[in-house]
Amino acid sequence: MLKITTSSLSRTAVETLAVAVCEDQPIHSDPLILDLIGRATTLEEFSGEKGQQVALYDPAGTKVHRCLFIGMGPLASLDAEKLRVFAAQAVKVAQKARSRHLTMVLPDFELLEMEPADGITALCEGGCLANHAFEKYKQDPKAQTLGQISLWTKAAAAGRHRTLLADIETICSATLNAREWVSIPSNDKPPEELAKMFSAPARKAGLKVGILHQAQLQRQKFGALLAVAAGSDQPPCLVEMAYTPKGAKKTIALVGKGVTFDTGGISLKPSANMDAMKGDMAGAACVAATMAALAGLNIKHRVIGLMPLVENMPSGHATRPGDIITSYNGKTVEIGNTDAEGRLILIDAMAYAIKKYKPDVLIDLATLTGACMVALGKKIAGVFSSDDALAQAIVNSSRVTHERCWQMPMPADYKELLKSEFADINNMPSARYGGAITAALFLSEFTGDTPWAHIDIAGPAFSKKAGDYCGPGGTGFGVRLLCDLIPKL
Ligand code: BES
Ligand code: ZN
Ligand code: ZN
Repeated sequence: MLKITTSSLSRTAVETLAVAVCEDQPIHSDPLILDLIGRATTLEEFSGEKGQQVALYDPAGTKVHRCLFIGMGPLASLDAEKLRVFAAQAVKVAQKARSRHLTMVLPDFELLEMEPADGITALCEGGCLANHAFEKYKQDPKAQTLGQISLWTKAAAAGRHRTLLADIETICSATLNAREWVSIPSNDKPPEELAKMFSAPARKAGLKVGILHQAQLQRQKFGALLAVAAGSDQPPCLVEMAYTPKGAKKTIALVGKGVTFDTGGISLKPSANMDAMKGDMAGAACVAATMAALAGLNIKHRVIGLMPLVENMPSGHATRPGDIITSYNGKTVEIGNTDAEGRLILIDAMAYAIKKYKPDVLIDLATLTGACMVALGKKIAGVFSSDDALAQAIVNSSRVTHERCWQMPMPADYKELLKSEFADINNMPSARYGGAITAALFLSEFTGDTPWAHIDIAGPAFSKKAGDYCGPGGTGFGVRLLCDLIPKL
């Protein structure tokens, strides 16, 4: 899919060639490319300003059919994210033109003051991620995906980056898996079905995959998880994946919220936008997709992935507000609100992870609270951690991949808000404000002294509107982030 090519543009045919152009400074140094840019900028409509696009067809002296120039604005504003967006725009033009193959010209990274590996990564990510559409349920799929994306350069050193391209392909295809799983409607992904979907790529990658089914969960007393599943006709399950490379010194446990549909249960949600709750398993999708990528990336740590999968439904069997349940680690929880179900399935999965694997680091990802979306909007995730260095590492990786994260506080005095008159803790805070924080504090009561971070992805996991390099639906948020983070832990 991804390739680096150094072949001569005057001798080898190219279907669509995309060139990024800044309005104020050259970012290329190859004479032929500079000459082509010169021809484009003599046109009134193109000067390299952001938003501009122009194409030259069959320019003399080359065997390029469609030479596309995209304005990048001023050089000072150019960063990795702008390169992702450039690649995505080029992919879209090539798709519309019914090209099968896109070639992007690598800029001279010295002129950009950017590490070549970072620039190449951004271009490839933007290209790969934009070259996908979720059309499984359309009778006449419209997207014309490209068969190949190439990077053109004259630099002989480019060969060094071949393994990088393989890694990017692994990470991007994992991201696309996560997107698809999130976009699949809930009627086609009840817990047991979703577990099968998650398992396929992980098994293929050589991971150990196990599934705890309903009877096993009952026997092992996953009381909180089972309380959420009680209202649904679909049995819950817990997917467990292990990546165990030889000589691993650290164990990282990843836990992802997997609510295949969240109606709110007896505390029923209002109907507006309830359809988006098919995406309430995005944390689990992210973990499952990341797990399958690890082997290909040659990660050195042992990594465990846990995905509790349940459907949250109201019915005659459903858990009621006021019910008290006993969680996996023995603490009792009063169910103040059945719509605060994510934290219930997470505490059982996290307590299990800690007991069984004694991880050095535990990270959970969850579409946990509407409150986090109120705080940070649709595009930024909240990071909560008992360990500032771990939170900082997550925020740093989020800058690299542009899956933005912002560290939030966990003030101990807010734990007051989770007091229950009858049980050890209430799943519903007694105050309306600070809901993302009280949710994180609830989880923290079940993580003991394991270094732990919680990423609330309620905003960025799902989007009804298309983004720059993501169609409507699941976004695959967190997969690239975890792939960047895990080797740095
Ligand atoms: N799945 C929701 C959170 C959510 C809301 C995710 C919007 C994505 C978009 C979660 O289970 C939930 O309902 N949380 C409640 C908690 C409250 C009852 C304490 C919320 O945020 O309102
Ligand atoms: Zn809910
Ligand atoms: Zn939920």
